[in-house]
Amino acid sequence: MNSTSALEHAPETASAGDLLHARYGNDKMELPPAWNETLAVLLSHRSTRAYLPKLLPEGTLELIVAAAQSASTSSNLQAWSVVAVTDPARKKKLAEFAGNQKHIEEAPLFLVFLADLSRLGRAAARQGITPEATDFLETFLIAVVDAALAAQNAVVALEALGLGSVYIGAMRNRPEEVAALLGLPPQAFAVFGLCIGYPDPAKASAVKPRLPQPSVLHRERYSIDGEAPALAAYDQDLRQFQKRQGMPEADWTQFAVERVKDAAALRGRDRLGAILAALSFPLR
Ligand SMILES: Cc1cc2nc3c(=O)[nH]c(=O)nc-3n(C[C@H](O)[C@H](O)[C@H](O)COP(=O)(O)O)c2cc1C
Repeated sequence: MNSTSALEHAPETASAGDLLHARYGNDKMELPPAWNETLAVLLSHRSTRAYLPKLLPEGTLELIVAAAQSASTSSNLQAWSVVAVTDPARKKKLAEFAGNQKHIEEAPLFLVFLADLSRLGRAAARQGITPEATDFLETFLIAVVDAALAAQNAVVALEALGLGSVYIGAMRNRPEEVAALLGLPPQAFAVFGLCIGYPDPAKASAVKPRLPQPSVLHRERYSIDGEAPALAAYDQDLRQFQKRQGMPEADWTQFAVERVKDAAALRGRDRLGAILAALSFPLR
C-alpha cells in the first residue's frame, strides 16, 4: 500500500487500500469486496480552495447540471434551482458576503444552490391556487434536501471530470443581500454556494480523514459504546493529517464543540429563522 502522503498528490492512481487508508487516517479498514472508478472518485473527494485561471470547456456547466438534476428528488417536486455565476464583479460581491473567501473570486464558475419553492408557487398561481403547504417547515426541508442531493451529484460529476470544488455555506451569512444580488424571488433561498474550477496543483488539497466508522455506523440500534476512545483516536488521526498538510494542529472534538457551544458560535446565522421569514418562509 502506498503511503497517505503519496496519495495526497496522486489520487487518480490510488488504490482502494490507499483511499481507505487516507479516508480513515489509519489501516483499520478492511479492503472492500468490490472496487470501481465510481468508488475511487467518491473516496478521493477533497475540497479545493485554489484554482487555475482556466475556463471550463463549453458544455461543462450543462453536463454538471444534468448530473445534479439526475439526483432523486422528493415526490419529483424538484424544489431546487441553481444560479451559475461567472461575472467577476458578481463573484467578488458574493465573496464579500461570504467573509471574503478568495476562492469564490478565483473559481471560474460559482454555483449558488437554491431551496426553491417559488416555482411551485407560480405553478399553483397559474391554477388560481395560493399554496399553503409551502409555508411549512416540512416543505422547506424538502427543498433543502433536494438542493443538497442535487449539489452533491454535481460535485461527484465534476470530480469525475478532474475538476475541483468547495461548498460555501457562508452564502447564508447575509442571505437577504445574496437574494437581492441574484434577483431571487420570494420563497427561493441560497442554501450554499459551490466554487468550481481546475485545482491548482501547486496548492493541491488532500483526502481528509473522517470519523472512525463505528462512530457513525450503528447496527440495528444506536449505540454509543466505544464512542469516547474512537473520537480521541480521531483527534490524533486528524492532528497527523494537519501536521502533514502544514496546518495548525487542533483536536476535532474541541473544534466541533466550539462550533456548537452557543448562539454566538453561529456567527450571525442565529438570525436565520427571522431572515427566512422575511424571505417568505414562515416555517410553520
Ligand atoms: C454545506 C457545506 C458548507 C461549507 N462551507 C464552506 C465554506 O463556506 N468555506 C469553505 O472553505 N469550506 C466550506 N465547506 C467545506 C468543508 O469545510 C469541507 O467539506 C470539510 O472540511 C471536509 O473537507 P473535505 O471536503 O476536503 O473532505 C463546506 C462544506 C459543506 C458540506
